[in-house]
Amino acid sequence: MNDTFAREVLDGLSATPKKLPSKYFYDKKGDHLFQQIMKLDEYYLTSCEHEILSSSKEALLKLSTAGGKPFNLVEFGAGDGYKTKILLRYFLEQKADFEYAPIDISENVLELLENNLKEELPDLQLKPVADDYFSALHSLRNGGRRNVILFLGSNIGNFTEELAFNFLGKVYDAMKRDDLLLIGFDLKKDPAIIRAAYNDSKGVTREFNLNLLRRINTELKAGIDVDKFIHYPVYNPMTGTAKSYLVSTEDQEFEINGTKISLEAWEAIHTEVSQKFSLNDITRMAIQTGFTELENYFDKRRYFVDAVWKK
Ligand SMILES: C[S@@+](CC[C@H](N)C(=O)[O-])C[C@H]1O[C@@H](n2cnc3c(N)ncnc32)[C@H](O)[C@@H]1O
Repeated sequence: MNDTFAREVLDGLSATPKKLPSKYFYDKKGDHLFQQIMKLDEYYLTSCEHEILSSSKEALLKLSTAGGKPFNLVEFGAGDGYKTKILLRYFLEQKADFEYAPIDISENVLELLENNLKEELPDLQLKPVADDYFSALHSLRNGGRRNVILFLGSNIGNFTEELAFNFLGKVYDAMKRDDLLLIGFDLKKDPAIIRAAYNDSKGVTREFNLNLLRRINTELKAGIDVDKFIHYPVYNPMTGTAKSYLVSTEDQEFEINGTKISLEAWEAIHTEVSQKFSLNDITRMAIQTGFTELENYFDKRRYFVDAVWKK
Protein backbone atom coordinates (compact mmCIF):
# COMPACT_ATOMS: atom_id res chain seq x y z
CA MET A 1 0.00 0.00 0.00
CA ASN A 2 2.79 2.41 0.98
CA ASP A 3 4.63 1.67 -2.29
CA THR A 4 1.52 2.35 -4.36
CA PHE A 5 0.87 5.49 -2.33
CA ALA A 6 4.45 6.73 -2.91
CA ARG A 7 4.29 5.94 -6.64
CA GLU A 8 0.93 7.62 -7.20
CA VAL A 9 1.90 10.70 -5.19
CA LEU A 10 5.18 11.04 -7.10
CA ASP A 11 3.48 10.49 -10.47
CA GLY A 12 0.86 13.13 -9.63
CA LEU A 13 3.34 15.72 -8.40
CA SER A 14 5.62 15.14 -11.40
CA ALA A 15 2.76 15.59 -13.88
CA THR A 16 1.74 18.83 -15.59
CA PRO A 17 -0.58 20.11 -14.24
CA LYS A 18 0.05 18.60 -10.79
CA LYS A 19 -2.56 16.39 -9.16
CA LEU A 20 -3.07 14.04 -6.19
CA PRO A 21 -5.62 11.18 -5.99
CA SER A 22 -8.52 12.06 -3.70
CA LYS A 23 -8.73 8.47 -2.40
CA TYR A 24 -5.70 9.35 -0.26
CA PHE A 25 -7.63 11.92 1.78
CA TYR A 26 -8.77 9.13 4.05
CA ASP A 27 -6.14 8.32 6.66
CA LYS A 28 -7.12 8.37 10.35
CA LYS A 29 -7.10 12.19 10.50
CA GLY A 30 -8.83 12.47 7.10
CA ASP A 31 -11.58 10.05 8.17
CA HIS A 32 -12.16 12.14 11.29
CA LEU A 33 -12.23 15.38 9.30
CA PHE A 34 -14.71 13.89 6.83
CA GLN A 35 -16.97 12.94 9.75
CA GLN A 36 -16.81 16.62 10.83
CA ILE A 37 -17.59 17.72 7.25
CA MET A 38 -20.73 15.56 7.24
CA LYS A 39 -22.01 17.54 10.25
CA LEU A 40 -21.53 20.95 8.63
CA ASP A 41 -24.62 22.94 7.61
CA GLU A 42 -22.93 23.85 4.32
CA TYR A 43 -22.30 20.18 3.45
CA TYR A 44 -25.96 19.56 2.56
CA LEU A 45 -25.24 16.20 0.86
CA THR A 46 -25.37 14.21 4.11
CA SER A 47 -28.65 15.59 5.44
CA CYS A 48 -30.28 15.24 1.99
CA GLU A 49 -29.32 11.60 1.60
CA HIS A 50 -30.21 10.90 5.23
CA GLU A 51 -33.70 12.26 4.48
CA ILE A 52 -33.98 10.18 1.29
CA LEU A 53 -32.96 6.91 2.94
CA SER A 54 -35.30 7.55 5.88
CA SER A 55 -38.26 8.15 3.58
CA SER A 56 -37.50 5.35 1.09
CA LYS A 57 -36.32 2.55 3.42
CA GLU A 58 -39.61 0.61 3.13
CA ALA A 59 -39.51 0.80 -0.68
CA LEU A 60 -35.83 -0.18 -0.69
CA LEU A 61 -36.50 -3.18 1.50
CA LYS A 62 -39.28 -4.28 -0.84
CA LEU A 63 -36.96 -4.02 -3.85
CA SER A 64 -34.15 -5.84 -2.02
CA THR A 65 -36.29 -8.73 -0.81
CA ALA A 66 -38.31 -9.22 -4.01
CA GLY A 67 -38.04 -12.94 -4.76
CA GLY A 68 -37.85 -13.76 -1.05
CA LYS A 69 -34.19 -14.88 -1.08
CA PRO A 70 -31.31 -13.86 1.22
CA PHE A 71 -29.12 -11.11 -0.25
CA ASN A 72 -25.80 -9.36 0.20
CA LEU A 73 -25.86 -5.62 0.85
CA VAL A 74 -22.52 -4.54 -0.63
CA GLU A 75 -21.42 -0.94 -0.12
CA PHE A 76 -18.59 0.72 -2.06
CA GLY A 77 -16.85 3.50 -0.07
CA ALA A 78 -18.95 2.94 3.05
CA GLY A 79 -17.14 5.43 5.30
CA ASP A 80 -18.57 5.47 8.82
CA GLY A 81 -21.94 4.13 7.63
CA TYR A 82 -23.84 7.00 9.25
CA LYS A 83 -26.60 6.97 6.59
CA THR A 84 -26.42 3.27 5.77
CA LYS A 85 -27.37 2.49 9.37
CA ILE A 86 -30.89 3.76 8.57
CA LEU A 87 -31.26 0.84 6.15
CA LEU A 88 -29.37 -1.68 8.28
CA ARG A 89 -31.49 -0.96 11.34
CA TYR A 90 -34.77 -1.06 9.42
CA PHE A 91 -33.87 -4.20 7.45
CA LEU A 92 -32.98 -6.00 10.70
CA GLU A 93 -36.18 -4.84 12.42
CA GLN A 94 -38.10 -6.26 9.47
CA LYS A 95 -36.19 -9.57 9.80
CA ALA A 96 -34.66 -9.41 6.34
CA ASP A 97 -32.08 -12.14 5.70
CA PHE A 98 -28.96 -10.31 4.50
CA GLU A 99 -25.23 -9.85 5.04
CA TYR A 100 -23.66 -6.39 4.99
CA ALA A 101 -20.29 -6.09 3.19
CA PRO A 102 -18.87 -2.56 3.51
CA ILE A 103 -15.88 -1.96 1.20
CA ASP A 104 -13.51 0.93 1.90
CA ILE A 105 -9.91 1.79 1.09
CA SER A 106 -9.49 3.18 4.64
CA GLU A 107 -8.80 0.36 7.09
CA ASN A 108 -9.23 2.87 9.89
CA VAL A 109 -12.80 3.83 8.96
CA LEU A 110 -13.74 0.17 8.41
CA GLU A 111 -12.52 -0.70 11.89
CA LEU A 112 -14.55 2.19 13.36
CA LEU A 113 -17.58 1.00 11.42
CA GLU A 114 -17.14 -2.62 12.46
CA ASN A 115 -16.79 -1.76 16.17
CA ASN A 116 -19.74 0.58 16.01
CA LEU A 117 -21.99 -1.93 14.23
CA LYS A 118 -21.06 -4.76 16.61
CA GLU A 119 -22.21 -2.55 19.46
CA GLU A 120 -25.28 -0.91 17.87
CA LEU A 121 -26.53 -3.78 15.70
CA PRO A 122 -25.16 -6.99 17.24
CA ASP A 123 -27.41 -9.22 15.10
CA LEU A 124 -26.02 -7.87 11.83
CA GLN A 125 -24.11 -10.36 9.65
CA LEU A 126 -21.06 -8.33 8.74
CA LYS A 127 -18.16 -8.85 6.33
CA PRO A 128 -15.98 -5.73 5.98
CA VAL A 129 -13.54 -5.57 3.06
CA ALA A 130 -10.54 -3.21 3.06
CA ASP A 131 -9.93 -2.68 -0.64
CA ASP A 132 -10.04 -0.29 -3.58
CA TYR A 133 -13.33 -0.02 -5.50
CA PHE A 134 -11.88 -1.59 -8.61
CA SER A 135 -10.10 -4.54 -7.01
CA ALA A 136 -13.17 -5.27 -4.84
CA LEU A 137 -15.47 -5.66 -7.87
CA HIS A 138 -14.80 -9.40 -8.10
CA SER A 139 -16.61 -9.88 -4.76
CA LEU A 140 -19.89 -9.24 -6.63
CA ARG A 141 -19.35 -12.49 -8.52
CA ASN A 142 -18.90 -14.57 -5.35
CA GLY A 143 -21.61 -17.03 -4.38
CA GLY A 144 -25.15 -17.32 -5.63
CA ARG A 145 -26.75 -14.64 -3.49
CA ARG A 146 -28.34 -11.55 -4.97
CA ASN A 147 -26.29 -8.35 -4.48
CA VAL A 148 -27.89 -5.06 -3.55
CA ILE A 149 -25.06 -2.63 -4.19
CA LEU A 150 -24.85 0.77 -2.49
CA PHE A 151 -22.72 3.61 -3.80
CA LEU A 152 -23.85 6.52 -1.63
CA GLY A 153 -22.78 10.07 -0.88
CA SER A 154 -22.28 10.97 -4.57
CA ASN A 155 -18.95 9.13 -4.37
CA ILE A 156 -19.46 8.60 -8.13
CA GLY A 157 -18.85 12.36 -8.53
CA ASN A 158 -15.29 11.91 -7.23
CA PHE A 159 -14.41 10.12 -10.46
CA THR A 160 -13.62 11.93 -13.69
CA GLU A 161 -16.37 11.36 -16.24
CA GLU A 162 -14.23 8.79 -18.05
CA LEU A 163 -13.52 6.84 -14.86
CA ALA A 164 -17.17 7.04 -13.74
CA PHE A 165 -18.31 5.41 -17.00
CA ASN A 166 -15.50 2.89 -16.76
CA PHE A 167 -16.36 1.98 -13.16
CA LEU A 168 -20.10 1.70 -13.80
CA GLY A 169 -19.41 -0.47 -16.86
CA LYS A 170 -17.30 -2.77 -14.70
CA VAL A 171 -19.99 -2.88 -11.99
CA TYR A 172 -22.51 -3.80 -14.70
CA ASP A 173 -20.28 -6.61 -16.00
CA ALA A 174 -19.72 -7.99 -12.49
CA MET A 175 -23.43 -7.88 -11.54
CA LYS A 176 -25.72 -10.87 -11.75
CA ARG A 177 -29.09 -10.63 -13.52
CA ASP A 178 -31.19 -9.82 -10.45
CA ASP A 179 -28.65 -7.61 -8.65
CA LEU A 180 -29.56 -3.98 -7.93
CA LEU A 181 -27.46 -0.83 -7.77
CA LEU A 182 -28.47 2.08 -5.52
CA ILE A 183 -26.39 5.08 -6.42
CA GLY A 184 -26.40 8.58 -4.91
CA PHE A 185 -26.00 11.62 -7.18
CA ASP A 186 -25.60 15.21 -6.04
CA LEU A 187 -27.78 17.30 -8.37
CA LYS A 188 -26.94 20.59 -10.10
CA LYS A 189 -28.29 23.52 -8.08
CA ASP A 190 -27.46 27.13 -7.11
CA PRO A 191 -23.69 27.33 -7.70
CA ALA A 192 -23.22 29.33 -4.47
CA ILE A 193 -24.70 26.47 -2.43
CA ILE A 194 -22.39 23.97 -4.12
CA ARG A 195 -19.26 26.08 -3.71
CA ALA A 196 -19.99 26.64 0.01
CA ALA A 197 -20.13 22.86 0.54
CA TYR A 198 -16.41 22.72 -0.30
CA ASN A 199 -15.48 26.02 1.38
CA ASP A 200 -17.22 25.93 4.76
CA SER A 201 -17.04 28.84 7.19
CA LYS A 202 -15.33 26.76 9.92
CA GLY A 203 -12.48 25.77 7.61
CA VAL A 204 -12.97 22.00 7.99
CA THR A 205 -12.83 21.30 4.23
CA ARG A 206 -9.67 23.42 4.15
CA GLU A 207 -8.09 21.20 6.82
CA PHE A 208 -9.31 18.09 4.98
CA ASN A 209 -7.59 19.21 1.77
CA LEU A 210 -4.36 20.25 3.53
CA ASN A 211 -4.32 16.95 5.42
CA LEU A 212 -3.34 15.26 2.16
CA LEU A 213 0.01 17.09 2.36
CA ARG A 214 0.34 16.20 6.06
CA ARG A 215 -0.24 12.54 5.19
CA ILE A 216 2.50 12.71 2.54
CA ASN A 217 4.80 14.22 5.18
CA THR A 218 3.99 11.51 7.75
CA GLU A 219 4.06 8.46 5.47
CA LEU A 220 6.73 9.53 2.96
CA LYS A 221 8.88 11.81 5.19
CA ALA A 222 8.47 14.60 2.65
CA GLY A 223 9.00 17.76 4.73
CA ILE A 224 6.39 19.80 2.82
CA ASP A 225 5.72 23.18 4.45
CA VAL A 226 1.93 22.94 4.60
CA ASP A 227 1.63 26.62 5.60
CA LYS A 228 2.87 27.54 2.12
CA PHE A 229 -0.36 26.23 0.56
CA ILE A 230 -3.90 27.55 0.43
CA HIS A 231 -7.12 25.58 -0.07
CA TYR A 232 -8.93 26.81 -3.19
CA PRO A 233 -12.27 25.27 -4.24
CA VAL A 234 -14.14 26.30 -7.41
CA TYR A 235 -17.43 25.33 -9.02
CA ASN A 236 -18.02 25.62 -12.76
CA PRO A 237 -21.77 25.72 -13.49
CA MET A 238 -21.10 25.15 -17.21
CA THR A 239 -19.68 21.69 -16.59
CA GLY A 240 -21.25 20.95 -13.17
CA THR A 241 -17.78 20.25 -11.78
CA ALA A 242 -16.57 21.32 -8.34
CA LYS A 243 -12.80 21.08 -8.01
CA SER A 244 -10.50 21.60 -5.06
CA TYR A 245 -6.93 22.75 -5.40
CA LEU A 246 -3.96 23.30 -3.13
CA VAL A 247 -2.18 26.43 -4.35
CA SER A 248 1.46 27.09 -3.55
CA THR A 249 1.84 30.66 -2.26
CA GLU A 250 5.54 30.85 -3.18
CA ASP A 251 8.32 29.06 -5.07
CA GLN A 252 9.18 25.93 -3.11
CA GLU A 253 10.94 22.58 -3.31
CA PHE A 254 10.75 19.35 -1.35
CA GLU A 255 11.88 15.75 -1.80
CA ILE A 256 9.91 12.52 -1.85
CA ASN A 257 11.95 9.29 -1.83
CA GLY A 258 14.92 11.17 -3.31
CA THR A 259 12.90 12.83 -6.10
CA LYS A 260 12.87 16.63 -6.04
CA ILE A 261 9.47 18.29 -6.51
CA SER A 262 9.39 22.00 -7.39
CA LEU A 263 6.42 24.31 -7.34
CA GLU A 264 6.36 27.86 -8.64
CA ALA A 265 4.51 30.57 -6.77
CA TRP A 266 0.74 30.20 -7.42
CA GLU A 267 1.10 26.81 -9.07
CA ALA A 268 -1.84 24.57 -8.16
CA ILE A 269 -2.21 20.90 -7.28
CA HIS A 270 -5.60 19.47 -8.23
CA THR A 271 -6.82 17.27 -5.37
CA GLU A 272 -10.52 16.56 -5.78
CA VAL A 273 -13.35 16.56 -8.26
CA SER A 274 -17.00 16.50 -7.13
CA GLN A 275 -19.19 16.30 -10.19
CA LYS A 276 -22.82 17.48 -10.03
CA PHE A 277 -25.48 15.94 -12.25
CA SER A 278 -28.77 16.72 -13.98
CA LEU A 279 -31.41 14.00 -14.30
CA ASN A 280 -30.55 13.86 -18.00
CA ASP A 281 -26.86 13.32 -17.17
CA ILE A 282 -27.90 10.42 -14.91
CA THR A 283 -30.14 8.81 -17.51
CA ARG A 284 -27.36 9.11 -20.11
CA MET A 285 -24.90 7.42 -17.73
CA ALA A 286 -27.34 4.60 -17.00
CA ILE A 287 -28.07 3.98 -20.69
CA GLN A 288 -24.46 4.21 -21.86
CA THR A 289 -23.27 1.75 -19.21
CA GLY A 290 -26.06 -0.74 -19.99
CA PHE A 291 -28.31 -0.17 -16.97
CA THR A 292 -32.08 0.24 -16.76
CA GLU A 293 -33.36 2.93 -14.39
CA LEU A 294 -35.89 1.59 -11.90
CA GLU A 295 -36.59 4.34 -9.35
CA ASN A 296 -35.41 7.80 -8.33
CA TYR A 297 -35.80 8.91 -4.69
CA PHE A 298 -35.41 12.63 -3.91
CA ASP A 299 -35.15 14.80 -0.82
CA LYS A 300 -37.78 17.53 -0.41
CA ARG A 301 -35.53 20.25 -1.87
CA ARG A 302 -34.51 17.99 -4.78
CA TYR A 303 -30.84 18.67 -4.08
CA PHE A 304 -29.91 14.99 -4.28
CA VAL A 305 -31.19 11.76 -5.77
CA ASP A 306 -30.72 8.10 -4.88
CA ALA A 307 -31.27 6.17 -8.09
CA VAL A 308 -31.98 2.44 -8.30
CA TRP A 309 -30.69 0.74 -11.44
CA LYS A 310 -30.92 -2.85 -12.60
CA LYS A 311 -28.99 -4.87 -15.13
C1 LIG B 1 -16.83 11.00 0.58
S1 LIG B 1 -16.64 9.61 1.65
C2 LIG B 1 -18.33 9.05 1.67
C3 LIG B 1 -18.61 7.97 2.65
C4 LIG B 1 -20.05 7.43 2.60
N1 LIG B 1 -20.33 6.75 1.33
C5 LIG B 1 -21.04 8.54 2.79
O1 LIG B 1 -21.82 8.80 1.87
O2 LIG B 1 -21.04 9.16 3.87
C6 LIG B 1 -15.84 8.47 0.57
C7 LIG B 1 -15.45 7.15 1.20
O3 LIG B 1 -15.00 6.31 0.13
C8 LIG B 1 -13.73 5.76 0.44
N2 LIG B 1 -12.98 5.68 -0.82
C9 LIG B 1 -12.52 6.72 -1.56
N3 LIG B 1 -11.89 6.27 -2.66
C10 LIG B 1 -11.95 4.91 -2.61
C11 LIG B 1 -11.49 3.85 -3.44
N4 LIG B 1 -10.83 4.13 -4.57
N5 LIG B 1 -11.74 2.59 -3.08
C12 LIG B 1 -12.41 2.29 -1.92
N6 LIG B 1 -12.88 3.25 -1.08
C13 LIG B 1 -12.65 4.53 -1.42
C14 LIG B 1 -13.11 6.71 1.44
O4 LIG B 1 -12.16 6.07 2.27
C15 LIG B 1 -14.33 7.24 2.20
O5 LIG B 1 -14.61 6.47 3.34
